[in-house]
Amino acid sequence: MRILVTAGGTREYIDPVRFISNASTGKMGYALARTAAKRGHIVTLIAAPIAMKAPSHVDVVNVVTCREMFDAVKDNFDQCDCLIMAAAVSDYAPVRTSKMKMKKSASDLTIRLKPTSDILAWAGKNKKSRIVVGFALEDEKLLERAEQKLADKKLDMIVANSLSSIGTDAATVHIKTLDADWLTIPDTPKRKIAAKIIGRVETLRIKRRKSS
Ligand code: CTP
Repeated sequence: MRILVTAGGTREYIDPVRFISNASTGKMGYALARTAAKRGHIVTLIAAPIAMKAPSHVDVVNVVTCREMFDAVKDNFDQCDCLIMAAAVSDYAPVRTSKMKMKKSASDLTIRLKPTSDILAWAGKNKKSRIVVGFALEDEKLLERAEQKLADKKLDMIVANSLSSIGTDAATVHIKTLDADWLTIPDTPKRKIAAKIIGRVETLRIKRRKSS
């Protein structure tokens, strides 16, 4: 399969040196790209700034903002069989980015934010026969909200995890596909979680081919 994976936390710039981002380290996305390549898939990784060496045998497209990630996903979507959105994409970006470094003053500072585009929702809407996998990070009602996301964004699979999984080498995740119940993978290294996710993607693909 041709698999497109996004990873890392996007940055939305306030001025040339300051940005809004999140605590994602990109470990899950990298593990997915590495595992998919090892299993013989053709992998493109769209990576927001990450302090890790790119996995071997993977084409890497480096991006910074949500806008750039969206453009890179659109550029590669037609040729892919599966998109896995493991990136932590900023939901908001500053309305204006200052060209000059902002100076401090004694008064309060308000930064106006506007919503960014939802890449995953766009992919779900335009997927045709492609498999689209999303991630959900919630601090409460994890499975309920993740299942809602699966339906709302027209996904084939959702991987739900809690806030404690950010930046760690191991995590507890819950996986749901449309045709099966929740599968919980407790406290497992991300490379093993990646193997489970890619395995499920392969199964979905085989099922889809048989039914078409
Ligand atoms: N995502 C995306 N584009 C965005 C924001 C998020 O493609 N602008 C993707 C992420 O890569 C992830 C999924 O959406 O796969 C879930 O992101 P999350 O932030 O949990 O969901 P939201 O839809 O933003 O909903 P909420 O903020 O209510 O949790």
